[in-house]
Amino acid sequence: MSTAVAPNAVAQSNVAADYYAILKARASEIEARYRRATPRSAENFRRAAAVFPGGYTRDAIMRGPHPTFIGRASGATMVDADGRTLTDFWFNATSLPLGHAHPSVIGAIQAQAPQGTAYFAPTMHEVALAELLLERLPGADRIRFANSGSEAVMMAVRFARAHHAPDGRDAAGTARSVIVKFEGSYHGSYDDVSWSVSPKLGDVGARDAPRAVAETSGLAGTDGRVAVLPFNDPAVLRRYVDEHHDEIAAILIEPMANRIGLLIPDRVFLVEARALCDRYGIVLIFDEVISFRVGYHGVQGQVGITPDLTTLGKIIGGGFAVGAIAGRSAILDLSTPEHGHRVTHAGTFNGNPMMAVAGRATMELLMPAAFAGLADLGGYARDGLAEAARGLPLQVTGAGSLFKVTATACPLHDYRDAATADKRWEALCSLALLNEGFVLTPAMSGCVSTVTTRGHVDALLAAFRSIVAA
Ligand SMILES: Cc1ncc(COP(=O)(O)O)c(C=O)c1O
Repeated sequence: MSTAVAPNAVAQSNVAADYYAILKARASEIEARYRRATPRSAENFRRAAAVFPGGYTRDAIMRGPHPTFIGRASGATMVDADGRTLTDFWFNATSLPLGHAHPSVIGAIQAQAPQGTAYFAPTMHEVALAELLLERLPGADRIRFANSGSEAVMMAVRFARAHHAPDGRDAAGTARSVIVKFEGSYHGSYDDVSWSVSPKLGDVGARDAPRAVAETSGLAGTDGRVAVLPFNDPAVLRRYVDEHHDEIAAILIEPMANRIGLLIPDRVFLVEARALCDRYGIVLIFDEVISFRVGYHGVQGQVGITPDLTTLGKIIGGGFAVGAIAGRSAILDLSTPEHGHRVTHAGTFNGNPMMAVAGRATMELLMPAAFAGLADLGGYARDGLAEAARGLPLQVTGAGSLFKVTATACPLHDYRDAATADKRWEALCSLALLNEGFVLTPAMSGCVSTVTTRGHVDALLAAFRSIVAA
């Protein structure tokens, strides 16, 4: 079958390359227009470069020729350093489901700030937020706060390994320590998950036995720590786990893969992961740091599969730095003092009252009806983008309030499909949209929040249509 398809695939990819070349031929015009519109951002970026390596302190916000510095924001719009009003379709990496400076969130933090912003003591605000979150996660009866999604994942990995070695070793004297993660999944900046996040296709090895490719310099290696498998492939997962189960502490899954087009995998993949974890006593971790935005019970509620641990972040902090690990007490109670070889978990700002009141105000408004509205508008955006992209080598994917345009002719099923994307086309399309006043990521990911209107989406669609048809 593959030999019969190959000539077509080549012809198709030539057609796609010709299509992407049209926008790429306009690169200097698009970049020049951006530079003309953003002289203050350019000046700020020069100053930032004197203190930050490369001019930034967070990789994802960099875009060429320079990022847009923001002065203020409210609702669905931001005003940049040059006074331009921009419609936000990324809301600080999906973390602001009510939009910027929502009155309820502002009210909560204005009430809290004069009472003190952080204490070396617990507050009932963190307890109230924890209760609201556990209500949404029927499989979880315990939760711990952290300060970022990365930290939450790091702690989930630690809990999973400790679960297999409550006394520091397992019965056979060799603790299970391997974390299975999937090619193309991003789980934050912790070392043991910084493998094969966005590897080059030339480096990845066989599809059914991917090579673990370091995402960053400075890692200590994969041995006994991590194994990388293809996303969305239940057969390969089963084969690997059947063979290696006595080394595996956890299977870590992004149930909506951001870098694979904000794609929810086939349910059978998640079902297989759950079954394997049950069979071999492996801890199943769902990383819902982004996907908790998809519905009241996250993606786990939507697909009806309950993990042992869930990592959270972004929306639950109401715009403040946050992470959380939720799960069964049998695992998370390993952090209690009764355990001799307990899991230690500290953090100066864990559960701090500013985050807790903002998170609480946000989650109290994010009830099922709000998620339904978000999903409705997200679907409207996806449908409109797909309509504009019809017949073009572009894939429109996403779920709930989230959408992404990927510049490939290849329908998305796993990382290797997504990695065929023409990233330069995506970045230029995003920059051209920014010139029209719309903020998406340079990879053309976007989302709507409760403050986004059909009018905002219609305006985005009109701009997108004119760019992709040009
Ligand atoms: C699925 C997932 N896990 C973890 C993280 C890391 O979260 P943070 O940026 O808060 O460290 C992210 C961030 O985008 C994410 O998307």
